[in-house]
Order: sequence, then structure tokens, then C-alpha cells
Amino acid sequence: MADMSCIMVIFGGTGDLTRRKLLPAIYNLYTDGLLPENFAVVAVGRRDYSHEVYRNLAREAVANFSRKSIDDEKWSVLAQRIYYKKSEFHDDQGYRSLKAFLDRLDTNYHTGGNRVYYLAVAPEYFEVIAGQLYAHDMAKNDKCWQRVVIEKPFGRDLKSAHYLNHKLSQVFDESHIYRIDHYLGKEMLQNIMVIRFANGLFEPIWNNRYIDNVQISIDETVGVENRGDYYERAGALRDMVQSHMLQLLSLIAMEPPVDLTTDSIRDEKVKVLKSLRSITRETVMDSVVRGQYGKGFVDGKPVVAYRQEERVSPDSNTETFVALKVHVDNFRWAGVPFYLRTGKRLADRSAKIVIQFKQLPGILYFKEYGPLEPNLLVIWIQPREGVYLQFNAKKPGQKYSIIPVHMDFCQNCALYNNSPEAYERLLYDVMRGDSTLFTRWDEIESSWRFVDSIVEAWHGRNDDVLIYPSGTWGPEAANELLKKDGFKWWNVTPQGVGGHTDL
Ligand SMILES: NC(=O)c1ccc[n+]([C@@H]2O[C@H](COP(=O)([O-])OP(=O)(O)OC[C@H]3O[C@@H](n4cnc5c(N)ncnc54)[C@H](OP(=O)(O)O)[C@@H]3O)[C@@H](O)[C@H]2O)c1
Repeated sequence: MADMSCIMVIFGGTGDLTRRKLLPAIYNLYTDGLLPENFAVVAVGRRDYSHEVYRNLAREAVANFSRKSIDDEKWSVLAQRIYYKKSEFHDDQGYRSLKAFLDRLDTNYHTGGNRVYYLAVAPEYFEVIAGQLYAHDMAKNDKCWQRVVIEKPFGRDLKSAHYLNHKLSQVFDESHIYRIDHYLGKEMLQNIMVIRFANGLFEPIWNNRYIDNVQISIDETVGVENRGDYYERAGALRDMVQSHMLQLLSLIAMEPPVDLTTDSIRDEKVKVLKSLRSITRETVMDSVVRGQYGKGFVDGKPVVAYRQEERVSPDSNTETFVALKVHVDNFRWAGVPFYLRTGKRLADRSAKIVIQFKQLPGILYFKEYGPLEPNLLVIWIQPREGVYLQFNAKKPGQKYSIIPVHMDFCQNCALYNNSPEAYERLLYDVMRGDSTLFTRWDEIESSWRFVDSIVEAWHGRNDDVLIYPSGTWGPEAANELLKKDGFKWWNVTPQGVGGHTDL
């Protein structure tokens, strides 16, 4: 059993991520009995707070954002282990004082010098903080472990990612760098490998002989909210495709690993990313659709256009929507298009993967009843978690008619099932020293290489940034992208695919 004893040092302890995700995750791990006996949290921020003031703010954050309601007795025990330390990220004296403080806590909590340094800060501070930790001898990994957790985005292109990685590697060995893609902590992502590799039903047909196309979509109804300045520099391609969507694709397309060790799994994922066919200036218009939300209605309420959002340029051409047709050039997937779609202010909020299977030869029923609906396997990721299978069956009755029906396994519908948040699993894994659900450098490198090919292909043009009304499924061109291949987006809901009756 790994020694999980540690002090978790959160840089950006007063930030949004800490309040909404990290503190609630720590609380839930505590109530589930998953925190080590020897443990403390030190939140680092530049505000003038005492430990007590910070604990009160932390309580408020947990009460607002935790999946479980707060239990006062449990909270008061945990709160005693939460500390606040004031320091600016650049301030030498601040690190000296932080180091002395952590050393003292080591004695009180028997944490032996083990550290999780969580950088919940804007990316421009990653290098500064890592450099300061090195300069103050706080990342030695000598007779103890000291790990760093890096939030996304890891760079904004291959060049900047390389630079950042180079800087981090001067301080931490790759095995001590935990690059977060919080999607990997989601229950259903961990389930993809189980569904594929623990079922004789699926794996034998998981290839280009039986699969027509794969659709991966992360649809959001929210707009850019208060992140306009970040989003203007990122856009949907960098923000979502480089990270979450390519991670989903690699799990769906990977070969079975030789075993379940971290590196065996990551080796297979990286092979998929390396097999992605680059998009060029010649192919970009046929393979990528980008758009930006205009004004419209979401959930019946009027919303403004992206260009009217705070901290967004009124003539911005940043894409808030992107749909892509991607090819994985290997023997398993040759000829199978993978369609990816993500956007803000769309008609519905959901993340899912739809596998569309090939039709049987049009012989028996086809002659009588015309084309049948294809078999679909849907992996729901959020907010619904589960698996859905559509197949054809005879409608009961005297008349012979064939209709698509479905079986639906919903993992988080039952009241008793309160799935852990992704950050709970990820924090737990960092303390255990298991980096399977974090991205290795070569995964980041290959995904940026692919994304950069699109950015380069777009260079010098923006006439293809299509405005779509908020509350719709994006630009019509995204439908055309599939239509010209004879496919359509499957906007499956738990009730089925729009328009058909169930048994
Ligand atoms: N928020 C999310 O849900 C989310 C989701 C995914 C990824 N992320 C990533 O997580 C990271 C943090 O995001 P966030 O939304 O939490 O940002 P945020 O709310 O702006 O928080 C930034 C934190 O850094 C502190 N800070 C900034 N400059 C500092 C300085 N010079 N010295 C000391 N402290 C300083 C801020 O202190 P003050 O409170 O004093 O300003 C605050 O605690 C980013 O890399 C972001 O991309 C966030």
C-alpha cells in the first residue's frame, strides 16, 4: 500500500477552481474515509486571511459545491487540518516562510516531507512557481515524494507546451508531474476500457468491419461566462479538442493494453494520437466547421451573442463551436470517420459517444420494409452516466412492422448512486502515486501536433467562422459535414432517437 501521508499545498487557494472543485473533493474524500491519517492542506493566496477566516470561506465553498451536504461534526475535524499561508507567487521571502511552515506541519502531522503541490493558478504562473519550489529546495524528492499537479491548459500550442514541459522537467521528474485532464476522472471514462475489454459482445466487433462511424460530442448550454479573456486566446479547438475530446477519442480507439499498468495504457493511447491524420490547408474546409454563437434563447431565456460578452472583442473571430471529421490511420480504423463536435450555447448540455454500426446486407427485411435504423451504442458521460443500445425489433401485433428499440443502463439515475466527482478520484490518485488518469507528456505532444495542424490550416482566414443562434445545434455546415458522407448526428436522448416510437 502506497504511503499517502502528505501535505497538499494549493497555490491559488482563493480561486474559483479551489472553491468549486478542490475543497469539496477534499471534504468528500474525508467523509468517505479516503484521506490519509497523516494529512494537512495549506492554501496559498495573496489575500490577508487568517487560518480561521480561510476555514470559514472553505466551509462556505464546501456547503455550496459539495455533492454531499456538509456534516458540521466532520467538517470541524477536517477544518483543523486546513491552513492558509499568504504569499505572492514571485516572492522569495514568501517561499522561505512557506517552507518553514510546511516543515513545522510535517512534525505535527507526521507527513515526512511528502507534498502535493497543486497549481490551481493561471498558466502563466506554472513556470514561476515550479522555479521557486526548485530554488527553495522544496521539490527534491529525496527520502520522500513531492508531486506537482498542473491544471489545463498545458500550453497553447506545441511550442509553448514544449517550453513549459522543459521548465517543469528541470524541477520534477516526469513521474512526479500530474497533468490534469479532469475528464479522465469521470466515472464513464474509466468505464470505457471496461466496456470494451471486459465484454465479449463488443470488442470483437470494435473495428472498421462493423463500425460505420463514431461520434463524440461535448455540448454545452453555457456561454463563455466570466472567462472571456482566456477564451479569446483559446477558442473551442484549443480549449476542448486538444484535451478532453482527444482523450475520449484515444480511449475509444486504442488497442487493448498488454496489462493495466499506467504506462501500458498510456502507450496505447499515445499510438492513437500519433495515428491521427493531420489536417492541411487543402483538407480543412472539408473536415472542419467552426462557428461562434450569436444571440438567441437558451432554456427559454434570451442570451447575448459571444461578441457582446464581457472581455470579448466586439469583432472577435474566436470559435465557440467546432465540428471535425477525423481519421485514425491504422489497421483497425482505416476508413472509419470519427466526428467530433463541441460548442457553447448549444441546444442541450451533454457529453456522449455514439458508435454507429454498419447495416446488414439489404436482403431480408430491407426488401419489405425499406432501410432499417442502424444499431447504435451510446456511452453517456455527463450529466447522465451510462450505456444505451439501440437495435431493431418487431412491434407487437398482427401487422409486421420493425421498429428501433433500446436498452438503457443509467448508472447515476438511482438516488442511492451519487458518483464521486472527477476531482475526488484525481486527488486520491495523486496521493496514491497513480498517474494513469493523468496525461503523459507524449500524449500532450501528439495532441498539440494534431491541433496545430488545424490552426495552421486556418491561418490567414476567418471567412469560415459561421455565426449560429444560441440554443441551436451550431452552424448548418456541421450537419453537412456528415450528410455528405451519408450520416447524421445522433442527438440521442434517454427516450430514444428523435422521432421513433418505443415498444
Ligand atoms: N475554474 C474552473 O472551473 C477551472 C476548470 C478547469 C481548469 N481551470 C484552470 O485552473 C486554474 C485556476 O483557475 P481559476 O478559475 O481557479 O482561476 P482564478 O479564480 O482566477 O484563481 C486564481 C488564483 O491565483 C491567485 N493569484 C493570482 N495571481 C497571484 C499572485 N501573483 N500571487 C498569489 N496568488 C495569485 C488568485 O488570488 P486572488 O484570489 O487574490 O485573485 C486566485 O487564488 C487555471 O489554470 C484554469 O485554466 C479552472
